Formats: sequence, C-alpha cells, structure tokens
Amino acid sequence: MAYVDDFPTDARIVRWNMIVAFGALGIGGLFGMIQALHRTGVFRGFVSSADYYTVLTGHGVLLALIFTIFALCGVFTWGVTRSLDRSLPSARFAMTWFGLMLLGTVMAAVTILGGLVPSIPFNADVLYTFYAPMKAHPAFYLGLVLFIVGTWLAGVDWFRTYWRWRGDNPDERIPLQTFMVLTTMLMWYISSAGVAVEVLFFLLPWSLGLIEQVDPLLTRTLFWYFGHPVVYFWLMPAYFIWYTVLPKLSGGRLFSDPLARVVFVLFLLLSTPVGFHHQYVDPGIPEGFKFIAMTNTMFLLLPSFLTAFTVVASIEHGARQRGGEGRLSWLRKLPWDEPAFAGCALAGLMFAAGGFSGMINAGMNINYLIHNTLWVPGHFHLTVGTASALTFMAAGYWLFPQITGNRLRFRSLATVQPYVWFVGMTLMSNAMHRAGIAGIPRRTAEPQYDSVTFQGVVGGVSEMRLQIALGGTILFLGLVLFLIVIFGTWLGGDGNESIRVNGRLPAPLSGPEHSPKILDNLKLWTAVAIVLIVLAYGLPLSALISDGLFAPGSPPI
Ligand code: HEM
Ligand code: CU
Repeated sequence: MAYVDDFPTDARIVRWNMIVAFGALGIGGLFGMIQALHRTGVFRGFVSSADYYTVLTGHGVLLALIFTIFALCGVFTWGVTRSLDRSLPSARFAMTWFGLMLLGTVMAAVTILGGLVPSIPFNADVLYTFYAPMKAHPAFYLGLVLFIVGTWLAGVDWFRTYWRWRGDNPDERIPLQTFMVLTTMLMWYISSAGVAVEVLFFLLPWSLGLIEQVDPLLTRTLFWYFGHPVVYFWLMPAYFIWYTVLPKLSGGRLFSDPLARVVFVLFLLLSTPVGFHHQYVDPGIPEGFKFIAMTNTMFLLLPSFLTAFTVVASIEHGARQRGGEGRLSWLRKLPWDEPAFAGCALAGLMFAAGGFSGMINAGMNINYLIHNTLWVPGHFHLTVGTASALTFMAAGYWLFPQITGNRLRFRSLATVQPYVWFVGMTLMSNAMHRAGIAGIPRRTAEPQYDSVTFQGVVGGVSEMRLQIALGGTILFLGLVLFLIVIFGTWLGGDGNESIRVNGRLPAPLSGPEHSPKILDNLKLWTAVAIVLIVLAYGLPLSALISDGLFAPGSPPI
C-alpha cells in the first residue's frame, strides 16, 4: 500500500510542504537566472541595477531559507511517520506550524518584493544574511519570527510522535530515520536560538524605532552562530535521503546503520561551534577563537567522509545485486535512467566538488584570497544549490507518487532533468569559482571587471561571464522541466493509479543491533554540544556585550 493510503492526513501535510517548497524554488530560480544574465551583462532587460539587491534578497531568502526548510518539513514528516509507522498526533497542530511558516513566508516575501515597486513604502533589501547595519521593514523580521517559530513547532510535532511511539515500544532502538530527524532538530533548536535573539531583541526593535542603534558585530556574530548550522539544516535532509532512500533506489541496502548514527551525532556536536569561520575578516573577534573555529570546521570533514564512504558502499552493494562487477564497471549497472536515483547520485557527485572548495573557504589564510568573491556563490551552488536542491527534487520524484497516489507524469522529462541541472551547474559553478580567483566580487550588479583586453579570449573574463550566463539559463530550463513533472503529477493524475510505489525501505546490511546504545542517548549529546558551544563562544560573546548590548565594537579580551 502506498503512503497516501496508509496515512492520508500526513500525506496531505507532506504534499503541502513540498508544494510550497517547489513553488518557492520556481520563483527563486527565475530570480537566479535574472541575476546570472544581469551581472554578466548578457541581458539586462528584466530589472534595473538599482533593483538587483531586491532580486538577490528574494533569491537568497526564497531558496536558501524557504525552499530548503519547507522541503525538510515534507521529507521529515514523511520519514517520522513512515519509520515509526504512526501518524502525527494531531492534524490541527500540524496545520498550525505549517500555517505559521506559510504566513511568515508570505510576509517576508511581500516585504522583499515591495522593493521592486517604487510607490510601495516598504522593502527588505537586506540579503538573506540580514544582519545590521542593513535594516528592513519590521514586517520582514516579523515574518522571519513566525517562520522560525513554525519550524520549532514542527520539531515538537516530530518529538511528540516519537514519545508516543516510545511509550508503546520502551525497549526498541530509535528507528534510523526518526533518529536522524531528532538529532537534526536538536541541532536546529540550539542554533536557531541565536538568530531568534538577534531578530527579537535587536533587529526588530531597531526597525520599529524602539531602540536607536545596535552593535553590528554582535548581530553578525549571532547571525553566524546560526548561519553555519543552518547549512547542515539544508544538508541533513539530503543525507537522510542518501542514507535511507538512495540504497533502495540503487537496488541494495544501507551499508551501516551505526555509521549513519555516528555521523548525525557528530553533526549535532560540531555544526555550531564553527560560526566564526564566516567572520575571519571581522575585526573584534580574537584570532585564537577564529583558529578554534577553523579546527572544528576541519573536524567536520570526518562525518562528511564517513558519509561519502557509507553512501558509495551502499550504492555499490546495490549495483552488485543487479549483476555489476569489476572495480568500477559496476557503476554501469546503476539505474541512471531513474530520475530519483540520477538526481541523488549527481547531487552527491557535485557535493564532493563543493566539499573541496569549502576546504579553501575554511582555511583562515587562503580564505582571504576568495573572501566575498564570486568563488563563494560558486561553492554554495554546489552544496545547497545542488547537493540539497537536486536531492530534494529527486525526493520529489520519489515521494510524489506516494503522497498523491498518481503515477509520475512526463517521465521522459524527469529522466533528463537531473542531467540538465548537472550540466548547467557545471558551467555556472566552475566559472564562478574561476571568476572568484580572478578577484571578481559577489553581490554586485556591476562587477567592474569588463576587461576589454581579455574580450573574447578563452580563459578570460568574458568567457567566464558567458559560461555563467549560459549555465544559469540551462539551470532555469532544468527547473522548468522539474516543475512541469511535479505539478503535472500533483494536478494531472486521476488518483486511481494502480501501480503503487512501495515506500518501505530494506533493512541495513549492518543494523542497529550493531550500534552502541549510547548513540541513542540524545540528552548526553545535546549536553556535550552545549559545552562545546560555551567553549567556542563564551569569551568572545561576553567581551562583545561587556561594553553594553547596543554599543558598537568590542574591547580586547
Ligand atoms: C546567489 C544564480 C539556484 C542559493 C546567486 C548568484 C547567481 C545565482 C548568479 C550570485 C549573485 C551575486 O552574488 O551577485 C542561480 C541560478 C540558479 C540558482 C541561475 C538556478 C536556476 C540556487 C539554489 C539555491 C541558491 C537552488 C539554494 C537552494 C543562492 C544564494 C545566493 C545565490 C544563497 C547568495 C545570495 C546573496 O548573496 O545574498 N545565485 N542560483 N541558488 N544563490 Fe543562486
Ligand atoms: Cu560555515
């Protein structure tokens, strides 16, 4: 039986979260193409350069915050209910958190888009990183607050479902998918507290005129306290799919349940005490604490490598089940024409490349070379823009038949779509990385690098610009294909699909009976995570506020 038959109410909740996510992806992606064409000078007819920041804010907020987090809510709701085999306790509560998130989204989006209409007196051209000294209309911050409170309640919903299950199953191990959801949400509660303080105590009162000034360094620090863990909030649902669904799509089983648990615990511990690696060039933060953040960041490579190993081993197992042989020729036996598989596999491949450019970002000294250049968007379009985004699209191909009861429509479009995205992103991201090394800045409509001497020369600036524009256009085309398939499947089916997808997942090769019980001790890991955060942030934060909460700057420690 398909998920929609077993859990009709939860299927509706998953469906709505995914629909909003993919709607935001469509609008945000259009903005992305506009930016790519505009800043390369290929086509400037969509917006004026003065409106560039409005579009860029819309792109960042709609994609990095709204699309990713709604997709997470859809995927996690499915994972918790499926792996515990029970519904969320109350449909009304679920609609409450979904409604809060949606209301917050609409408020923030309308405020941002207000920037495009001169007669409208509000705007929020503050980019998706929204720290001071840039100031938005209060409705933007209020929208963010509602959105984040919505995500907190979503977490409460998943925890409640788990506690009820625990009541009936006191001695069982936490099912892997639920384990992943709970550890991710614990990380989210710890880290989003920082942005909540930033918005509620500083930015919102400042924007309302209740306080006269804020300390920009303090708001930046609170933002980045949240700003690194949020990247794991984008990635964890992708890992969730790679660990639990991708092995099945490849025809095999997860290699190791214990390794997967270790990875999620490591992310809970290490993803927050690293935020200073976004502030390497900020004055007022002691070098030693930047160094600690760098060291912790390098430790984060460990769970990433464990993931690469476990996921590839699981796929290889699948390929060998399908008759694959040899050192590498087993790769040919994988279902490359299955869009859910191809999307996840290509997303994983690009993530590996993104991991390498991330190492450059993380190094305290080489960071100076690429800081605030186009290299940085080059990097995160491989990570959040592909590892997460393409995996969520792949998850859409896998989930929509289950949550709608309709067969996937326009299958041939779906089959080519991940490859279109892959080609577009290869062009755009590679050229962005190169442009960054050449010193071309990010976040500007008018990069002053129109170097005439290089005009038309392969390897020169104009060639990179052309690749960015072409890549951005191909990416948007890939997005349109995806939306046709997904919205076609959602709206176009008759609901009588006889071939029902079996959403049940096979047992891992090495199951939970091999994981030490201590891994499931969520209280312990939360406590350790908090201790690490106090060590990383305690002194610098107390120095920042020692001269008054609203006074700019910081006395030396
Ligand atoms: C920034 C294009 C998809 C997240 C940018 C920029 C371009 C671009 C050209 C750089 C603008 C600048 O610095 O001046 C595109 C295209 C896409 C796409 C053509 C596909 C159609 C995505 C996706 C995500 C994403 C799927 C995340 C899920 C971001 C973020 C920024 C950005 C966070 C930085 C915004 C800022 O600087 O405040 N994008 N992008 N993009 N993109 Fe994308
Ligand atoms: Cu980071």
